[in-house]
Amino acid sequence: MKIVILNGSPKGDMSITLQYLRYVEKKIPGHEFKVINIGQKINKIEKDGDYFQSIVDDIKSSDAVIWSFPIYFLMAPSQVKRLVELFIEKVPDGVFKDKYTTAITTSIHFYDHTAHNYIHSVSEDMGAIYVPGYSPGMHDLMEPEKCESLLEFARNFFRHIEKKMPVARVFMPIDYNMPEYKPNDVEEIEKTGDKKVLLLTDSEKSDVNINRMIDVFVKRAPYEVEVLNLNDIDIKGGCIGCIHCGNNGTCIYKDDFMDFFKEKIMKADGIIQACKIKDRYLSSNWKKYYDRSFFNGHRPVLQGKQMGFLISGPLRQIPNLRELLVGFLQVGRVNLVDIITDEYEDSNKITSLISSFADEFAYSMDKGISRPVTFLGVGGHKIFRDYIYEMKFIFREDNLYYEKHGLYDFPQKNVKSRLKNTFLMPLMKISKMREEFYKTAREKMVEPYVKIVEEA
Ligand SMILES: Cc1cc2nc3c(=O)[nH]c(=O)nc-3n(C[C@H](O)[C@H](O)[C@H](O)COP(=O)(O)O)c2cc1C
Repeated sequence: MKIVILNGSPKGDMSITLQYLRYVEKKIPGHEFKVINIGQKINKIEKDGDYFQSIVDDIKSSDAVIWSFPIYFLMAPSQVKRLVELFIEKVPDGVFKDKYTTAITTSIHFYDHTAHNYIHSVSEDMGAIYVPGYSPGMHDLMEPEKCESLLEFARNFFRHIEKKMPVARVFMPIDYNMPEYKPNDVEEIEKTGDKKVLLLTDSEKSDVNINRMIDVFVKRAPYEVEVLNLNDIDIKGGCIGCIHCGNNGTCIYKDDFMDFFKEKIMKADGIIQACKIKDRYLSSNWKKYYDRSFFNGHRPVLQGKQMGFLISGPLRQIPNLRELLVGFLQVGRVNLVDIITDEYEDSNKITSLISSFADEFAYSMDKGISRPVTFLGVGGHKIFRDYIYEMKFIFREDNLYYEKHGLYDFPQKNVKSRLKNTFLMPLMKISKMREEFYKTAREKMVEPYVKIVEEA
């Protein structure tokens, strides 16, 4: 069989993920693997129509396609995102029509599921018969049992192709048609206060709804809003995964991105992102913005800020995108004020939502609101914490930050719980004590909380 590997790692042949595919190629011989380094060659793919067409031809003449990429910022790298946009734009009949397709990624399992949901859903949108992908940890290839599990996955994928097995579609197709937003005369509110609020967008003139939403937000905000467009910032390319920034927090690119991020994003009290949904994420430009912010490593450098989104597009139909945005902010310790979309027939409803959002944004900045995070934030932090601790020789800057800001909150450092365990574990081995404990456990557990309420 001819298998096309779409290698989305910007590291090309140096990709760790690609080694998983090479391993499969060697251990399950008899198939032709055609690797295309789409991550490294995205500029050529964009500019050279013949080259783009040769990739499409390779896919069309193949028996199956495997996406191969690292997880970057809860998603595929910006280069993969851009290729998806090009496929959707230039191959309207679906580049993967009736093609068996899957994905193999590597990562530290930080939001690998949202990246897989993304590639799974857009591949289905492009006609693929999509076999759910495989997401090993980046070091799994070093462990023999995990190699066997990888081979098993590949054999099963090949079996699907050979036996022409049907595969259940997982994601509903999306209706992208949004009603036109036509705000009536919107009264401008007087601007007070000294908070710095930045509204960052990548909108173009033709993006009618989002431009009108921005306009209404700026008018209804009781504070000055600086509006900046990502397209006006010199960003030479997507992150290439060189991790030079791990040592001293400096990106190897010589462009305006780092200065922009430090001067505008980090100095703002509040940030609004105004975006349009493109396929099942934001634009690849936004993805580039996120990927390039990796010069901050895993440090929550926007901690304590207020953020919100104005989004044009069917967010309600893409819960994966909402989860990814919320999770990203929670791990970054940023307070999400709200996400307002244009998914309403009634334009007045959108205007009133934006007005109230602008008002709540002021309130949140004044009060310095921060709310408890859910599993998305708690789980994400623990993955980062353990990873940085293990890899501090590479992520020197992260390590210093984690030490300084008390982010190494390992449970074994908690003296109270250590003492409790030391004394109570031997006692709990005695059956009488154990019985007594469980008899009164409910009362004892709630006791300190009741006391706080009584004394409040
Ligand atoms: C810019 C950047 C962003 C990353 N974001 C994530 C992430 O969100 N989740 C995760 O689990 N790993 C993340 N990683 C780790 C990579 O996914 C991991 O190192 C991967 O194995 C690299 O594969 P490659 O060599 O094929 O490019 C990120 C790495 C980089 C450089």
